[in-house]
Amino acid sequence: MIHSKVLLLAPILSALAQDLSTDIVGCTDLDCPNQGWDSCTVTDESYAGIGLARISGVPDSLVGISLVKGVHIEDPESGGGNGSDDDRSFKSVYYLGTPSNLDVGDLSGCAVVFNDPPTGPGFQQPKINDSVAVDIRASYGTCPDVITQGCIDSLTRQARNVQTGSNGCSALKSDLEDNPPDECSDLTGAGDGLGRFDVISLGNLSTISQSANGSSDCWPVQPKSDNLAQLYDDTSNGNYTEEGNLAEMYKITPILTVFTSSNGSNSLVSNTSASLTCLKVVSTGNVTNATDPEDTDEGGAAMSAVNMAGATVAGLATLMFVLL
Ligand SMILES: *[C@@H]1O[C@H](CO)[C@@H](O)[C@H](O)[C@H]1NC(C)=O
Ligand SMILES: *[C@@H]1O[C@H](CO)[C@@H](O)[C@H](O)[C@H]1NC(C)=O
Ligand SMILES: *[C@@H]1O[C@H](CO)[C@@H](O)[C@H](O)[C@H]1NC(C)=O
Ligand SMILES: *[C@@H]1O[C@H](CO)[C@@H](O)[C@H](O)[C@H]1NC(C)=O
Ligand SMILES: *[C@@H]1O[C@H](CO)[C@@H](O)[C@H](O)[C@H]1NC(C)=O
Ligand SMILES: *[C@@H]1O[C@H](CO)[C@@H](O)[C@H](O)[C@H]1NC(C)=O
Ligand SMILES: *[C@@H]1O[C@H](CO)[C@@H](O)[C@H](O)[C@H]1NC(C)=O
Ligand SMILES: *[C@@H]1O[C@H](CO)[C@@H](O)[C@H](O)[C@H]1NC(C)=O
Ligand SMILES: *[C@@H]1O[C@H](CO)[C@@H](O)[C@H](O)[C@H]1NC(C)=O
Repeated sequence: MIHSKVLLLAPILSALAQDLSTDIVGCTDLDCPNQGWDSCTVTDESYAGIGLARISGVPDSLVGISLVKGVHIEDPESGGGNGSDDDRSFKSVYYLGTPSNLDVGDLSGCAVVFNDPPTGPGFQQPKINDSVAVDIRASYGTCPDVITQGCIDSLTRQARNVQTGSNGCSALKSDLEDNPPDECSDLTGAGDGLGRFDVISLGNLSTISQSANGSSDCWPVQPKSDNLAQLYDDTSNGNYTEEGNLAEMYKITPILTVFTSSNGSNSLVSNTSASLTCLKVVSTGNVTNATDPEDTDEGGAAMSAVNMAGATVAGLATLMFVLL
């Protein structure tokens, strides 16, 4: 009897283990509408790229929970685009993805979003063959690729040990501000320690309802039956060069999630757990597309609705040039 139960369970377990095709997946895996570039509109924001990663090391009751990042590029009304001007806004929006059997209202805990990217080596850039590496748009990985294990361990240990109460997140915030782990002093470059971060309560999230969802053309999570709850957003400025676009659009954002036991009878978690997830937008690994000159500066601008028409015109101009 026991034997047959194990056999029946095996396919379910392997289906769970398969999960996402890589540590972080983007629009190609998430079936965003294809307009020649990545594009994904969720309620009132149109993203130029998406990254989805599972949160690892969570209690069984939370398995499948994930974090999503979308980046929305906003250019000045005038069209902007003057090379080195540092006024192009890159708005990063974060969501918590929850399996359909999990009520986001039953969660309690905190998320810490580190807005300054780690200065580690970066994720490895996938190779299309032995000689051609795709650029950072397609790169993906996990935190140990970019942050020392000592820093990861200290951060998660410290987060687990902070006494959570009704104001657990402000306690965690001041604890990290006042006593950042020594092992993380180099996280965002010499002397900057943890850099700029924000702490958000997980106890107050609501999933995007069907009625609020009318203007979405994309649901950047897998499986599609999962819910999304907006967690946080942050806007930083970059310039209009391709270098600036790559640096802001595809930067890595570490997110520390701490799940605590809630006070009610519905608590999903008995022991506090803490994990660090490193998230970034992941774009096509196709080297042709990744190095398409049209998909550099104009491609970035194309993602903001303001410039969509301009990009199409630029595209046509290139096409005409080729035909001539
Ligand atoms: C590459 O871009 C073209 C349009 O320029 C699009 O049709 C194609 O699907 C893209 N390929 C991938 C792998 O995204
Ligand atoms: C772009 O920058 C240059 C040099 O700073 C300046 O002379 C020019 O007026 C700027 N153009 C626009 C459209 O802002
Ligand atoms: C690798 O891919 C590039 C672009 O498709 C091609 O030009 C090159 O010949 C390939 N190199 C090898 C060793 O296959
Ligand atoms: C749990 O609820 C009780 C009664 O409502 C309250 O006194 C206590 O502070 C709560 N504990 C936490 C950790 O929120
Ligand atoms: C939850 O959200 C509401 C409305 O945004 C806010 O008034 C309230 O203070 C929040 N509660 C917590 C615990 O963050
Ligand atoms: C929101 O809209 C997208 C795109 O139409 C759809 O795929 C998704 O299932 C919708 N989600 C909800 C909760 O209505
Ligand atoms: C644009 O921004 C990138 C990334 O911060 C930086 O490396 C580059 O030097 C900047 N370029 C100009 C011309 O300011
Ligand atoms: C939860 O914490 C208690 C007390 O620290 C410990 O005895 C128990 O093994 C933990 N349970 C799990 C599932 O880690
Ligand atoms: C990359 O995309 C282009 C355009 O969609 C396609 O023609 C080409 O075969 C793709 N290359 C690879 C290696 O997938």
